[in-house]
Amino acid sequence: MPSWDPAQYAKFGDHRLRPALDLIGRIPDIQARRIVDLGCGPGEITEMLAARWPEAEVVGLDSSPDMLKKARALDGRARYVDGDVAAWSPDPKVDLLFSNACLQWLPDHERLFPRLVEQVTKGGTIAIQMPHNHDQPSHRIISRLSEETPFKALLAGKLRHDPVSSPDSYWRMLKPLVAKIDVWEIDYLQALAGVDAVLNWTMGTALRPVLDALDDTLRPQFVEKYRDDLRSVYPREADGATLFPFRRLFILAER
Ligand SMILES: C[S@@+](CC[C@H](N)C(=O)[O-])C[C@H]1O[C@@H](n2cnc3c(N)ncnc32)[C@H](O)[C@@H]1O
Repeated sequence: MPSWDPAQYAKFGDHRLRPALDLIGRIPDIQARRIVDLGCGPGEITEMLAARWPEAEVVGLDSSPDMLKKARALDGRARYVDGDVAAWSPDPKVDLLFSNACLQWLPDHERLFPRLVEQVTKGGTIAIQMPHNHDQPSHRIISRLSEETPFKALLAGKLRHDPVSSPDSYWRMLKPLVAKIDVWEIDYLQALAGVDAVLNWTMGTALRPVLDALDDTLRPQFVEKYRDDLRSVYPREADGATLFPFRRLFILAER
């Protein structure tokens, strides 16, 4: 797992929040007694779940101490616990399993997703959103530079393969396990503000494993090369914004 920097992640908060709101908006008005937000991060979205289901016990689970600290500082209604999604097994089961922008960090979805479904009560709801954009230049440039000297020596074996698959593969995987399922994607055309906006974005997410693995000499060299490539692929518009298309995959199911 990469280290997380809540302040870096909070940049572009509106763009990161929007898919979570889109997902919450699609969840029907269920009677939920127990809700979990897997990979809750800084907790803002967890507190939105707590506000929508005021009677429910709401737990935010995350493995990053920095993110948990931020979430607990909200002084909200949810309870925040340190845990690994891969090992999560609640007793009793939850009525709503929510996870926004987390499960793309975990491998082996063919085993993980059916296991997650089992942690939900019969008739309960599963609501998941994951970025599905690893074929975009923002990510492909990271992969290419990682193969180059001198970075290769420190990055070999450190970068993960993105596990997010096609929408139809999740539909086929989960359909036999649930009563209802809806899978869809949205392409957001994000107009980011500021200088080197795409770099600033990935510094909060996709670039983190690289930043962690490189030393103090190679880290700035990598970032400089990456920044230069990004500038040519994602030029700034006349008004200063940078257009950063971003595809996200959504799964909403009833067990
Ligand atoms: C991109 S952030 C999303 C945070 C929050 N859900 C949101 O939408 O703002 C991903 C979060 O998933 C957490 N995470 C990643 N892998 C995890 C794992 N195996 N177990 C628990 N948390 C994990 C990270 O610590 C991080 O806080």
